Amino acid sequence: MKAVVLVGGEGTRLRPLTLTTPKPLLPIANVAFLERQLAWLGGHGVDEVVLSLGYLPNAFTEHFSDDRFGDIKLRFVVEHEPLGTAGGIRFAAEGIDERLLVCNGDVLTDLDLGELVRFHAEREAAATIALTRVEDPSAFGVVPTRADGEVVAFVEKPPRHQAPTNWINAGTYVLEPEVIDSIPPRLTVSIERETFPRMLEGPGRLFAMQSGAYWLDIGTPQKYLEAQLDVASGRLGTPPVEGATELAAGVWIQPGATVDPSAFVAGPSVIGVGARIGARARVEASVLGPGTIVGEGANLLRSVVLRGATVAPGARVTDEVVGPEAGLPCG
Ligand code: GDD
Ligand code: MG
Repeated sequence: MKAVVLVGGEGTRLRPLTLTTPKPLLPIANVAFLERQLAWLGGHGVDEVVLSLGYLPNAFTEHFSDDRFGDIKLRFVVEHEPLGTAGGIRFAAEGIDERLLVCNGDVLTDLDLGELVRFHAEREAAATIALTRVEDPSAFGVVPTRADGEVVAFVEKPPRHQAPTNWINAGTYVLEPEVIDSIPPRLTVSIERETFPRMLEGPGRLFAMQSGAYWLDIGTPQKYLEAQLDVASGRLGTPPVEGATELAAGVWIQPGATVDPSAFVAGPSVIGVGARIGARARVEASVLGPGTIVGEGANLLRSVVLRGATVAPGARVTDEVVGPEAGLPCG
């Protein structure tokens, strides 16, 4: 099966990290988010993925320079101006005339795609949306359904307390060619604000499947941090990074990393390739990127230190994402 992954937006809520690295290429526990997403797609039999690019497209073509990821063949389609989510799908799906999977490029999930496709096929749906339940639906597309899954309404980002349900668009769709054909070409169109609501005006066949699978949109600093700790804790499989070994319960160490014997490290944590943890340092529920240094007596709690950054001796870092190559002062 083929899939389109939408990775055209900048992800401004993760600035300044996204000024140099597009959101899907930011690491989640030391593996680029998009690699995790592609591994998930490949695990469900997806063999071709079109990456719908807009922001910093070269970062993607350089990252996947042999146009493959494992068994998946990659194609890159670049929008010269943002076409929106539906416009982006239409543009990326040019020449594909079969049932298609579509994913937002910032959703970490272990949703069973086989189950979603079966749900879609059984109902002879034109489009099926995966749903997940969240505490505050106001930042998402809210999707009430009938008991059989037929969609009743699609309300993108309603005001707080006005959402009709807590079930929201999880950003994974199965689309039949007729839905893609109905999107006007070369125009900016939103699937959430235009395509799906329009399907509800007539006798469309728009369905949605509720799922309790792990699900997180990594697009805010809090969620970006949360995703890393969830992966580090093994919630999406172990080892959380290929080649890592378990140093102590929940503490995963990658090749070439060193931990001073007087340091204290507790899980869920990942210590990246060549990272160094100094004497009497404390690292708890944190992810250290490749080549990072935690100075003597530094204290790290629920934090992520990205590639090549240094945490100064004695520094205290709690609930932070430390940017790549950063030097963090004492304090
Ligand atoms: N190609 C392309 N072109 N991709 C785009 C464009 C565009 O113009 N605009 C956004 N995208 C991509 C983003 O890169 C991201 O991967 C995905 O589409 C969703 O965009 P976000 O900016 O992350 O949207 P959101 O998180 O506020 O809301 C969306 O996701 C929620 C689930 O996480 C909506 O689909 C909601 O309905 C949904 O609940
Ligand atoms: Mg998002």
